[in-house]
Amino acid sequence: MTRGLPLSVMTRLEAACDVDRFDGKGVMPHDDLVARVAGKHALLSMVTDAVSRSVIEAGTNLRVIANVAVGYNNIDVVTARERGIIVTNTPDVLTDATADFTLALILAVTRRLGEGERMVRRGNWKGWAFDQLLGMQLRGRQLGVVGFGRIGRAVAARASAFGMTIVHSSRSGSGMPLDRLLSTSDIVSLHVPLTSETRHLIGQAELARMKRSAYLINTTRGPVVDETALAWALRSRLIAGAALDVYEREPEVHPDLLSLENVVLAPHLGSATTETRTAMADLAASNLIAVLGGKPPLTPIP
Ligand code: DGY
Repeated sequence: MTRGLPLSVMTRLEAACDVDRFDGKGVMPHDDLVARVAGKHALLSMVTDAVSRSVIEAGTNLRVIANVAVGYNNIDVVTARERGIIVTNTPDVLTDATADFTLALILAVTRRLGEGERMVRRGNWKGWAFDQLLGMQLRGRQLGVVGFGRIGRAVAARASAFGMTIVHSSRSGSGMPLDRLLSTSDIVSLHVPLTSETRHLIGQAELARMKRSAYLINTTRGPVVDETALAWALRSRLIAGAALDVYEREPEVHPDLLSLENVVLAPHLGSATTETRTAMADLAASNLIAVLGGKPPLTPIP
């Protein structure tokens, strides 16, 4: 295990296997992971762990890699598959938390919550004013959902309750072509997984297609957006604003974004509720225990 998990989950894991757990601060160093995976039958990994070819090659006994995340772009799945190692993720259990957080970001950026908070904390607030920090109302606006899987659909359901019209585009070809979604939506929210096809899906050309009054929301993976292009679009007011939970090189944030007022920056909190993180840990443990017990995993990656 590349880190400890809630007690209830540790108890289950320790009852089922001998556990070697990284107890250091922060992310387990890659070299440490390569050294300690040797001889292990299972690896329980976090989204921040690079489960690279060298890790997988060092883990010659590995039967399962259980990632505590729905995304698994941190794992070299090609090498894992070559070696017959099962890779599992944690879908479903984080859908509501991530969709809730997406709505939090939509509201924060369209209602200029970050700007208001900074104004109050810096002592710059001089009291209520008729035209202070006016934002955009959601009712009647169009939300473009890019990627219409579980989380995309859950975001759409919540946005409908706010009176928004929903359009979507998806990899299966359902919905609207991406170009049209970008040029007609008031808010564009990204929910595609990170793959070689979706890396920099939103770059300079796509941002230029969006309305000048539109907002971009990213709660999926940072590299889906070209951050340099986004900083340029926000600086030149080519779009009205953006709200990001994920970044190209976490935990680094493009320095230009840090100084812009029209972007809300969150530290990868999409699934961060106690209930959800516990459920993710529990599902990852169930996957791991199932495979070690010779049973099929509950949620293998597709
Ligand atoms: C995921 O599950 O992929 C998130 O990014 C981490 O919760």
